[in-house]
Amino acid sequence: MKTQKHDAIVLSSQSEKDIQKALTQALKETPLPDDELLANIGLYASSKSLARFFFFYELYKKIVNTHGVIMEFGVRWGQNLALLSAMRGIFEPFNRHRKIIGFDTFAGFKGMAAEDGDLCKTVDGSFSVTENYEAYLDKLIGLHDALNPIPHLRKYELVKGDAVETIPAYLKAHPETVVSMAIFDFDIYKPTKAALEAIKPHLMKGSVLVFDELCDDIFPGETIAVREVLGLNNLRVERMPMAARISYAVL
Ligand SMILES: C[S@@+](CC[C@H](N)C(=O)[O-])C[C@H]1O[C@@H](n2cnc3c(N)ncnc32)[C@H](O)[C@@H]1O
Repeated sequence: MKTQKHDAIVLSSQSEKDIQKALTQALKETPLPDDELLANIGLYASSKSLARFFFFYELYKKIVNTHGVIMEFGVRWGQNLALLSAMRGIFEPFNRHRKIIGFDTFAGFKGMAAEDGDLCKTVDGSFSVTENYEAYLDKLIGLHDALNPIPHLRKYELVKGDAVETIPAYLKAHPETVVSMAIFDFDIYKPTKAALEAIKPHLMKGSVLVFDELCDDIFPGETIAVREVLGLNNLRVERMPMAARISYAVL
């Protein structure tokens, strides 16, 4: 079934969707006073949301003793960037080299190709966000960073545009880049392949690669890109029991 919001197939059952809707409504109608809402936000975090937090917590522990930046390919609303910023604040608040860089069109998919198959039902423009959302997200991550040490040093970047062009341009402008963690979540073939090709010379032993759609029949393009650029048999692809879809490989 398609949702009007992002076009993609949603696998949740109707009762799951009804409960999620009720939780959202409960959040919108919260009786908590403003100055206590953030401290109690766990009231509204479902097991599914928590699973994602825990997954990234486990992965963050794997990079804490490695050098380099974190890159996310496919940011959308930016929750992962916010979580990772908070984790940097907890685990390594003075590591100014651990920049967190997110790439997105902020206007949805760009570059759907034959490799993406017919199942996903998405088109260029699917998974778009609201107008000028990147400015809102920039401000939000800035607020998180401001709560942690050395806030005067900017440690995050949002790069807007088609990744096929923006990632090589970013790396040309930042040849010093070493990638400690790369999160692949463009869903589709062309930008994923471009990202893999661009960052390959910037990876090191110990880099953690995270995949949101590996082995996923709805979005086969990600797996094809990984196969073509890295070769699946060069990776030990692992997963964690708490997260249904995400996998990772440590180089
Ligand atoms: C599934 S969403 C990312 C979700 C996000 N990582 C999360 O966990 O909430 C996929 C994102 O990839 C972006 N995207 C797709 N094709 C792109 C391209 N060619 N260049 C840049 N971004 C692209 C879309 O705009 C969309 O925001």
